[in-house]
Order: sequence, then C-alpha cells, then structure tokens
Amino acid sequence: AGDGPLRGERVLITAGPTREAIDPVRFIGNRSSGRMGFAVAAAAARAGAKVVLVAGPCSLATPGGVERVDVESAREMHEAVMQRAGDCDIFIATAAVADYRVDRVPEQKIKKSDQPVALTLVPNPDILQAVAGLPRAPFTVGFAAETERLAEYAEAKRARKGLDMIAANLVGGGRDTGFDSADNALEVFWAGGHRSLPRAPKIQLAEALVALIAERRHGNDQT
Ligand code: PMT
Repeated sequence: AGDGPLRGERVLITAGPTREAIDPVRFIGNRSSGRMGFAVAAAAARAGAKVVLVAGPCSLATPGGVERVDVESAREMHEAVMQRAGDCDIFIATAAVADYRVDRVPEQKIKKSDQPVALTLVPNPDILQAVAGLPRAPFTVGFAAETERLAEYAEAKRARKGLDMIAANLVGGGRDTGFDSADNALEVFWAGGHRSLPRAPKIQLAEALVALIAERRHGNDQT
C-alpha cells in the first residue's frame, strides 16, 4: 500500500491458465504460466492498490500484500470474479481462459481402445465481457493474445467487449515473448489512443502497464 498512483483503488485481476476436465485425470489446458498476471498484481499492489488475484493453476508465489483466490476451470474463475466484480474499481483480465469446455465429463477415467474418441466442446462464459457489461462496471482492461494482425484484432476485441483498455501481445510460433516466457511486449489501445510498451521483463512491463492504467483511469474519472 502507501502512496502510489493506485492508492486506495480496489483491483481485481485474473491470471494463469484454466483447466477443463476431460475425465477425472485428464484436462485441456494452455501454455500460460501466470507470470504476466502475477507481475501485474505485484505492480498494482506496489502502486498502492488493494489487490485480489484470481489465479488458475500455476506454481508461482503470491506477491506480497495480494489476496489470492485459486480456481481451476473457466466456470470457477467466472464465479470467483462475478462474486467480487461489484466491489472493485479496476478489473484486469490477464488469464488465458479456455474458450470451450467438454460438455459431459464422465465420472470414471475414459478407457483406452483402438477406436477414435470425439469430445464435444461447448463455449465457456466470457468473464471479461461479463464484467465489462455490468451496470456499474469497473474500469475494465482486457488482454489480447494474437498470432497475427495484432492491432486490428485487439482493437476489434476492445470495441466488441466494450473495454476501457486492451493490452495486446503477439503469441505462438516459437517466440520468446507472450506465453510462459520471462519477457513480453504490449501494444495498448483505448478509445482514441495507443501506446507501445516495448519488450522488457514482465515485471517491468507490468509496472508500465499499471502506470498507464492509473493515468487513463484518472484522466477519465468523473469524480
Ligand atoms: O501467463 P504467462 O505465461 O505470463 O503469459 C501471459 C499471457 C500471454 C497469457 C497474457 O499476456 C495474455 O495475453 N493473456 C490473455 C490470453 C487470452 O486468452 O487472450 P484472448 O485474446 O483469448 O482473450 C481476450 C481477453 O478475454 C483476455 O483478457 C482474457 O482473459 C479474456 N477472456 C477470454 C475468454 C473467456 N472465456 N473469458 C475471458 O475473460
């Protein structure tokens, strides 16, 4: 806490991957390590915010002064966030949430056979969109992970989900930024503005993003 640019703000953050069960022992996951989101949580706490971090399965230490809520699936993350979203001033969605889950999860392990197995996937709730659509929505910041056309896809996501800001990163294709890396680079967009945060360690990048959020939020503050 203390005296930083987010002094007294209540910040809710999602981080890490989600796991969608296939059967009692198998799941669908993704390559998110949680590092970006944990770095944002640490930076927000250092900026004076009261931070709640809703984390999917990841093996990182909880940053000092941050309250952590562990979840596994996208639906659990959705529930944990919606319980708290009404009481926050800023929501930052860094988690790599599974867009789909397996529609019926058997109680017993699926037995091996020599036949193909088909899984039916059904859409998960979009947590970011749900928060942005609340009647008294917090200042809402999304992330966009894209493998191509970064600015175009990110700006479309921001507009479609009604976000105050979106932080876009290029992912995949053997890059050493984005998922599960120490460094990242972000292109940040808001209505009528843009800033590039060049490649840096995630800890440093998170500081810059939090400073930009504080600047934009206070710039738009009506009170
Ligand atoms: O965890 P690291 O290894 O450090 O990697 C960091 C990161 C690459 C995961 C991170 O920087 C990042 O890009 N996070 C967003 C990943 C993602 O799922 O992006 P998306 O473009 O598919 O989703 C867009 C936004 O909607 C995201 O803010 C996401 O949290 C949110 N979302 C998506 C689906 C869903 N069902 N609910 C959501 O809230």
